[in-house]
Amino acid sequence: MSEANPVLARMSAHRSVRSFAPTPVPDEHIEAAVAAAQMASTSSWVQAYCLIQVTDPDERARLAELTGGQKQVAQAGAFFALCADTRRHRMIAEREGAPYVGNLETFLLATVDATLFAQNLALAFESMDYGICMIGGLRTRLPEASELLAIPHGVWPLFGLCVGKPAEDPGQRPRLPVNAIWMKDRYADDERVFASMDAHDEVAARYYVNRESPGRNWTGGTWRKFKAPLREHLLGYYTSMGARFE
Ligand SMILES: Cc1cc2nc3c(=O)[nH]c(=O)nc-3n(C[C@H](O)[C@H](O)[C@H](O)COP(=O)(O)O)c2cc1C
Repeated sequence: MSEANPVLARMSAHRSVRSFAPTPVPDEHIEAAVAAAQMASTSSWVQAYCLIQVTDPDERARLAELTGGQKQVAQAGAFFALCADTRRHRMIAEREGAPYVGNLETFLLATVDATLFAQNLALAFESMDYGICMIGGLRTRLPEASELLAIPHGVWPLFGLCVGKPAEDPGQRPRLPVNAIWMKDRYADDERVFASMDAHDEVAARYYVNRESPGRNWTGGTWRKFKAPLREHLLGYYTSMGARFE
């Protein structure tokens, strides 16, 4: 089906690109991609997100450092910080002379809205033959990155997005089988979940052999990722920026 449907074909061709030609992304391409991405569904039409393009080469170099030395942050044709944004809603409340009442739901709402927008944006750029790489590394030293971007109260940077002309073909990382994700009527029993992960491990092991990293698989990598707590400063940081988790 995906051969006949250009949207499915483009989605199915995704791979993250980490090496880019030094070609800038023209503003008219960015505008077209952002306008299309804004049509993503948004909770109750609240549009709780924004993106900040970082254009200054020195700032890009500094952000590359802050994201853990990810060179594509400095090198890509364009780099954006994707943010959950409740500031507009707070400004409306202030103008109405009423308090803005934030809680876990408003944090989730803005985070989900921003993420749906971001994936739509990534796909829009990919449909224009750009490569993309999302950068969760933006959260590694988030207070410093936020200061650089002059992030105000009520706005929460979530991750970065590199966009540009690819200078590599990294190949595709396989995904879990569809039947691991698509359940019907009730959550699958553990046996079925393990079976689908075993199947995925076999595919992933072949992927690693082809990438000259034999002996690795998906469950092993996933286990390593969650062995220790991740980015523990985030609760304090997002709280200080107005997020509430109760
Ligand atoms: C929210 C998010 C943050 C990510 N952060 C990074 C990152 O900081 N650096 C990086 O190289 N890739 C990053 N990635 C890319 C993932 O590693 C990649 O999507 C995953 O390994 C699957 O590979 P693929 O996109 O090529 O299919 C991120 C992806 C997402 C969705």
